[in-house]
Amino acid sequence: MTDGLSLNEQGLTPLTEQPANRRHVQTGDLAMLFTSDYKRYVLHMHPEGVTHTHLGIYRHSALIGQPWGAAVQSQIGHAALLLQPSLTDLMKSLKRGTQIIYPKDAAYIVHRLSLHAGSRVIEAGTGSGGLTTALAWAVMPTGMVFTHEMRPDIHQVARENLARVALLPYVKMMLADIEDGFKANDVDAVFLDVREPWRYLPHVRAALRPGGFFASLLPTANQVIELLHGFDQHHFADVSVEELILRPYKASPSRFRPDDNLIGHTGYLIFARCIDPGEDMGRWQRPERQRYEARLRTEAEIAAEAQRRAIDIAAGGKKYPEMPLPD
Ligand SMILES: C[S@@+](CC[C@H](N)C(=O)[O-])C[C@H]1O[C@@H](n2cnc3c(N)ncnc32)[C@H](O)[C@@H]1O
Repeated sequence: MTDGLSLNEQGLTPLTEQPANRRHVQTGDLAMLFTSDYKRYVLHMHPEGVTHTHLGIYRHSALIGQPWGAAVQSQIGHAALLLQPSLTDLMKSLKRGTQIIYPKDAAYIVHRLSLHAGSRVIEAGTGSGGLTTALAWAVMPTGMVFTHEMRPDIHQVARENLARVALLPYVKMMLADIEDGFKANDVDAVFLDVREPWRYLPHVRAALRPGGFFASLLPTANQVIELLHGFDQHHFADVSVEELILRPYKASPSRFRPDDNLIGHTGYLIFARCIDPGEDMGRWQRPERQRYEARLRTEAEIAAEAQRRAIDIAAGGKKYPEMPLPD
């Protein structure tokens, strides 16, 4: 064992060296056994490898050389399909030390952070490495994810998870509290999945390239409000708050209908861009917010004027015409 990884994990071929268009399974490949009851086992092909499942044992020596998509048999005759795991399969296969970001949210985060091969992105906290998996998948082979986690036990779980899915070459894993700043700079994007992201906005500014992308996922509305105030103070604009609801269906032609279970809420997704610190934030707020804040200012001015007139009237009997009120 080195770095807490088994020899098996060290022998895994990095994902970019496993061309998706190859037709047959090779030693070093990441593969998946998909059973008829929709269970999935992600495995690393090794000539001496053996995968134990609830439907029996599958020897890798019998799987290597098979075409992708073939049905293979366990030692007690149960069939499983031999497939290349998708990104969703990889994310779902991770060992959990913490709650992970759902694939639906991860996919949209990658899109909104505008990540592509070659991007450099900071993340905190790493947690189990759920989102890290999606970020690394997006930026490989020439980009890098700089992920930060302050708990040593969770950091180790994530490290083993990323090694197991062959994405560790595209991730620098920092065992660090982001209270002390990030361990990378001049990055294209920063994503925070921590309880109080607004506290770290000065560090985000320091690490992001000018105009860079910021995003966070927060479970509660009061956290979102704190973060929105933080954007005003630290010069982040083009702000949006969104939520994704994914509705799964029963994929049965004879009984096609929505699934019985729907996950109601995973988190609010908040996005913003880091802008010039000399800018007047008032003019970069959303138009509806500018209108609302202008109205609040007018109401406050009217209330102050009404109070001043009331004092004048009480003091000397002065008369004023009626004041117009805002709509
Ligand atoms: C909800 S988990 C992140 C899950 C992750 N996004 C995933 O998809 O697997 C939040 C993590 O942030 C870490 N964390 C919280 N505050 C931190 C800080 N100041 N510095 C570094 N990590 C922190 C926690 O230890 C925890 O593991």
